[in-house]
Amino acid sequence: MNQDLRKVGVVGAGAMGRGIAQVCAAAGCSVQLVDSATDALARAIDSVRDDLSQAVAKGRLSQADADATLSRIEPVSELKQLSGCELVVEAIVEKLEVKQALFKELEAIVPADCILATNTSSLSVTALAAACASPERVAGWHFFNPVTRMRVVEVIQAPRTALEAVQALVSLSKRIGHRAVVTSDSPGFVVNHAGRAFVTEGLKLLAERTAEHQVLDGILRTCAGFRMGPFELLDLTGLDVSVPVMESIHGQYYGDDRYRPVTLARTRLLAGLLGRKTRQGFYSYEGKPAAPPSSPPAGLSDDKASPEVSMWWPVDGPAALPSSITALLPVERRVAQAHEADVLLLAPLDTDLSSAVAELRLDASKVIAIDPVFGSANGVTLMSCPATSAATVDAAQRVFAARSIPSFVIADSPGYVAPRVVACIVNLACEMAQQGIAAPDDIDAAVRLGLGYPFGPLEWGDRLGADRVLQILKGLHATFEDPRYRPSPWLVRRARLSLPLSAPDRLA
Ligand SMILES: NC(=O)c1ccc[n+]([C@@H]2O[C@H](COP(=O)([O-])OP(=O)(O)OC[C@H]3O[C@@H](n4cnc5c(N)ncnc54)[C@H](O)[C@@H]3O)[C@@H](O)[C@H]2O)c1
Repeated sequence: MNQDLRKVGVVGAGAMGRGIAQVCAAAGCSVQLVDSATDALARAIDSVRDDLSQAVAKGRLSQADADATLSRIEPVSELKQLSGCELVVEAIVEKLEVKQALFKELEAIVPADCILATNTSSLSVTALAAACASPERVAGWHFFNPVTRMRVVEVIQAPRTALEAVQALVSLSKRIGHRAVVTSDSPGFVVNHAGRAFVTEGLKLLAERTAEHQVLDGILRTCAGFRMGPFELLDLTGLDVSVPVMESIHGQYYGDDRYRPVTLARTRLLAGLLGRKTRQGFYSYEGKPAAPPSSPPAGLSDDKASPEVSMWWPVDGPAALPSSITALLPVERRVAQAHEADVLLLAPLDTDLSSAVAELRLDASKVIAIDPVFGSANGVTLMSCPATSAATVDAAQRVFAARSIPSFVIADSPGYVAPRVVACIVNLACEMAQQGIAAPDDIDAAVRLGLGYPFGPLEWGDRLGADRVLQILKGLHATFEDPRYRPSPWLVRRARLSLPLSAPDRLA
């Protein structure tokens, strides 16, 4: 197979096909673009022209380069005109039988060494290849929308895909300026697989009534650094898209509890609360566009009144506060004896607050916990137990409000919100590395570029410390007795050996 692909055919000139055609043409390939709908080609060319003109207007591209790119895209009306292609990429409707029929037809047209690539997001590349006479030439080449701006692409190797086909696609990916991520053919590939934990764990926290959706979103944005929270994301994607994907991946992994969605998502889908597209999802989009709060809904962060609150916190033991948190506190308000304090502040990580209070035999009405991992001057998460009084919550929030630190209040949850969600993300990535779905650095790059998380999940796990991630998961596992939280062997072994999570197996 040709390792320097220059003649590319693209079938399907919709949102994805036109983008793929544009990036290939910009990299110097001659591109032939086909579509079964008569007006689709003209619309695609117009859209590419507009996009290039904008790049010229912003000074990112010269007019000559824009003209050259456009001139390399040839709209063609019939598949048989792709007979000289070295690579044909399909970006047509997401239906297996239709894609299989297309590849069968293409096999009779293109040269024997032409690579057939699919841009499918959810179908089995293996099943698509199996319908072809030469499955070794079939691979996945999965771009993200919009193709010109999302600079990552998954190269999917099915069991019978030739290594040369994968290498040629990786090489072309580099030429078009995309980070290639090589993955085996598995449900969700890398990006959509790695993204499971964020939304499903967010939904689980909501289903447990740990906090309202806007508080959960606020914590994950403000404290953990996600661009948007899971409920903003679900509203953007639409539950009509997200729920079937969640259910499909859960099913494809034979009901593995790590992927288990919660029933409230389907109930909301049935109710038609899809998100932005129906103007009502978790947020309302009636009237002016809804902007989810970036600070807590209680509004206490605006209250600068200096509270006369006496506090006590343990300085050692499993519920002790780390120095990153005590640095945020008025240390002069700390009293020596727990019984003298208005607020007892704990920071357990491997149990919920209720268990920590029972263990320490403290007055449960006065206790409140603070997330020791993701607390900073940007925001803190305060966690009550079922016996915590409203006065304690109010007093604790006032302490932070007086220092202009937003505080989010949640109900008891082992691992709070951000550590719990991030630990699940790290654990899932560890499991993907364990199963060899992709190499550790590819998993990290795919998640950073494809999902926009602040760090790749394995890198994030290393920043937090594998031990700490393991501690959070063990706490979740022990509290809920739910196999969803079982730690991946990749995480357990690397924690035991003090190896980075991003380190590949030495013998691999
Ligand atoms: N839109 C996304 O965010 C996204 C992201 C990654 C992958 N994908 C995948 O890319 C593919 C295309 O998605 P899209 O969003 O561009 O769809 P789209 O509906 O915008 O475009 C599909 C185009 O394919 C044409 N088409 C359909 N059947 C055809 C056939 N048999 N022969 C020739 N042309 C045909 C249609 O006329 C249409 O112009 C799907 O497999 C989808 O799952 C989509």
